[in-house]
Amino acid sequence: MFFTVLLLFLCFFFTILHFKPQRPKNFPPGPPPLPILGNLLQLNKDNPLKDLDRLKRTYGDVYSLFIGPRPAVVINGFKAIKEAMVIKAADFAGRPQDMFLNDLSKEQAGVILEDYNHHWKEHRRFGLKMLKTFGLGKSQMEDTIYVEIQHTIDALEKSIGKTLSPDHMFHNVASNVICQIIFGTRYEYDNKLIRIIIETFAELGRVANGPWCVLYDSVPMFRKIMLPIRKAFKTSEACKDVVTCVVAEHKKRRVPGEPRHLIDCYLDELQKTKGEDPSFSEKHLVPYIIDLHFAATDTTSNTLLTGFLYLMTYPHIQEQCQQEIDQVLEGKDRASFGDRINMPYTQAVIHEVLRITKTVPLSVYHYTTKDTELMGYSIPKGTLIIENLASVMNEEGQWKFPHEFNPKNFLNDQGALVQPEAFIPFSAGPRKCLGEGLARMELFLIMVTLLRKFKFIWPEDAGEPDYIPQFGISMTPKPFRMKVELRLTK
Ligand code: HEM
Repeated sequence: MFFTVLLLFLCFFFTILHFKPQRPKNFPPGPPPLPILGNLLQLNKDNPLKDLDRLKRTYGDVYSLFIGPRPAVVINGFKAIKEAMVIKAADFAGRPQDMFLNDLSKEQAGVILEDYNHHWKEHRRFGLKMLKTFGLGKSQMEDTIYVEIQHTIDALEKSIGKTLSPDHMFHNVASNVICQIIFGTRYEYDNKLIRIIIETFAELGRVANGPWCVLYDSVPMFRKIMLPIRKAFKTSEACKDVVTCVVAEHKKRRVPGEPRHLIDCYLDELQKTKGEDPSFSEKHLVPYIIDLHFAATDTTSNTLLTGFLYLMTYPHIQEQCQQEIDQVLEGKDRASFGDRINMPYTQAVIHEVLRITKTVPLSVYHYTTKDTELMGYSIPKGTLIIENLASVMNEEGQWKFPHEFNPKNFLNDQGALVQPEAFIPFSAGPRKCLGEGLARMELFLIMVTLLRKFKFIWPEDAGEPDYIPQFGISMTPKPFRMKVELRLTK
């Protein structure tokens, strides 16, 4: 009896040990993993950033972790990130293809999660071309953004002397700017399309940051039976159905060769490349639209929210921006993006907001496209890469004031704007944010126009500001209220 129990115990023990993940030869070091779970228990599920920072102090800028049985390499600090994303760009430019978010889009990827391949390249090129076609670098895009700013001004004017919660307001601006490009129209916040897209992203965000998603990505055999995951798939399908209907409506009124917006341009492209290039197909249009809307909305609105949180609670910085804005725009109706050259202080504040927000803290997961090396370590093809952008944004040695909100991080002794090489909130290399130009234009025009017209005040009864954001694909400030007063400009 004793020997049977001992034998069973030994069998169980060696089976579990067999499941203990092993690091390949010369793989970056890291904490010892548990069988099946890997290092999951060592990471705070609500916000792993502090744990990633702690591991960096123990193992260095490049270390490895096991997300369940899956090995992942975490890259921290500017030097290592530059080597991976810029110097060895093609080796690190893939995206994993077997995770929850990939399965959501099935075989019809848009651009963000697409692997480093022809389809991705063509859709990235097309996206950049669309931003130009619809006015980036010209006054046309400024006009589009100003339409949205006017709606924001109207909302703020209704709240003069009162307090308001700004989250929907900024979300609306960011969403409508990209909607103008995609659909050629703007939508009110309670519009069915916008509500479904917002609710889908909120739900998928909750699932993607939660334990079910970790389990899904770590233990594939349980995938089919996870109820919250099945619900997320249903939500995603419902969202695609609504966007498909909107696309169908636009198709009815389309005149080939006379594009009004991105959807028309995509359909024209489809006609042009018919048969020759299968990467453009109607079934890819819907996920592509959803990708662009997703990428452009929470990122920009969370950065704006964080910016106004800091501007209210650092009133001397707000005032200094306003003085500069008044001076440069004297006699002008509105700011143009070109005015930024004469506003080094305001520009430094916007850069500092992007640095302190760490908007997309862990970038989007990358994947190695071949066996490669990083900082002397060997990394096999098909390894999950976590680019810790947050680690660069307060990296000592890269910033004059890494741990405080201080526009001097971007100003030299003469008060001119300087942009340290480590300023990479949009990442770097071939997968770098496609919408950086649009985001920079939006942030500048929105902040300058609102600061020129209004004074933003932290309400007396709001208590101490809480600067610690909620972790997610994009960092979201905790809800807050703002008090608004009209400024008396000349
Ligand atoms: C403050 C605003 C924004 C920030 C901080 C931001 C940041 C980022 C980051 C860190 C990535 C991942 C890059 C990588 O994987 O290495 C990314 C990807 C991307 N972003 Fe943005 N983004 C912003 C706004 C926008 C806007 C307005 C658009 C609109 C078109 C956009 C479109 C995209 C797309 C399509 C990708 C995927 C690129 C690819 O995989 O090739 N982003 N963004």
